[in-house]
Amino acid sequence: MQDWLKGLPKAELHLHIEGTLEPEQQFELARRNGITLPYESAAALRTAYDFADLASFLALYYQGMNVLQQERDFYELAMAYFERAVADNVLHADISFDPQAHLVRGIDLAVPFEALGQAMADAESQWGISSALIMSFMRDREAEEAMDVLRRAEPWYDRIAAVGLDSAEVGNPPEKFAAVFDAAKERRIPRVAHAGEEGPASYIRGALDTLDVCRIDHGVRCIDDAELVERLRREQIPLTVCPLSNVYLKGVARLEDHSLPAMLEAGLNVNLNSDDPAYFGGGMANNFIACHAAFDWDTTIFKQLAGNGINAAFASDNRRAQMHAELEAY
Ligand code: ADE
Ligand code: ZN
Repeated sequence: MQDWLKGLPKAELHLHIEGTLEPEQQFELARRNGITLPYESAAALRTAYDFADLASFLALYYQGMNVLQQERDFYELAMAYFERAVADNVLHADISFDPQAHLVRGIDLAVPFEALGQAMADAESQWGISSALIMSFMRDREAEEAMDVLRRAEPWYDRIAAVGLDSAEVGNPPEKFAAVFDAAKERRIPRVAHAGEEGPASYIRGALDTLDVCRIDHGVRCIDDAELVERLRREQIPLTVCPLSNVYLKGVARLEDHSLPAMLEAGLNVNLNSDDPAYFGGGMANNFIACHAAFDWDTTIFKQLAGNGINAAFASDNRRAQMHAELEAY
C-alpha cells in the first residue's frame, strides 16, 4: 500500500516553498553566502525541529530562510522540491512564497519571482510537473505593507495564479486584509487564505465572506461550527488540509485524533498536502502514508482525495483533464 500511495498521481496545493528547505541545503546555502548558523550541523538543526505550536515553528522557519540570498538559492531550493515531489508522483504543485519575509531582509521582489519562475519552467520541461505560483501575504504584518507588495508585484501579475494569506493566525483575522484582497480581486487575481488552522471557525467564514477566497488553506477548525460545515459542504469549498503539519504543530496530539475522517463523513471537499515538508515529516507520499496508518482508508478514498486536489488546482482545463485521466488509469 505504501508503494501504491507513493505512486498515486497527486496535485499538491498547499506548499510553502521556503518550508521545503532541508537542514542540509540550509547549511550548503549558508556556506555559499558566508552566513554562520547557530547550529553545529544539519543533524543538530533537525533536532531543533520540535514545535509547541505555530508560533514556535514560524520563528525557526523565518530564521531558516535567511540563507536564501541570491536567485540561485531560490532556484536550487525550488528544483530540489520539484525533484522530491516528482518522486512522490506529484503531477502539479501550487507553490506559495512569502515575499515580505525576503523584502524585510533586503531581497528584491525580482529575486524570488525570477528564480521561482525559472525553476517552474525547468521542472516542467525536465520532469513534466506543472505548477502555479501563489504570492502570500504575512497576516502578522501591517495590511498597508501587503498592499504595497501587491502594487510592486505588478510586473509579475501574469506569473501569479493567486494571492494567499499566511503566518501567525490568531489575532490577525481575515478582515484586516479586506482592502488588499479587494484590490487583488479588482486586478482579477484569484485569492486563497489560511483559515481555521489555529484560529477559530469564524476566520474561515471571514475568509469566504470578506476576502472572497476560492479555497481555504487548512480549514480544520470548521468542525467546531456545524452551520459552517454545512455551508462548506453545500458550496464544496476546497480545503487544503495538511495532516502531518497539524500533528507537528500540536493542532492534534496524534493523527488518529484528527478531524479528517469527520470532515470526509460530512461531505467536505478535502485534499491532502504537505505544507512545509522539511519541517513536518516529509512530502505528499508521507502524508498519504500517515493517513493510511491512522485511518486505514481504502484506495477509493485516497483516489477521491487525490481527485479533489486535481479539481482544485490552479491548472488549465487541458492539464486538469490529463491529470484526471492519469488518476483514473492508476
Ligand atoms: N507559513 C508557513 N507555514 C505556515 C503554516 N502552517 N501556517 C501559517 N503560515 C505558514
Ligand atoms: Zn501553510
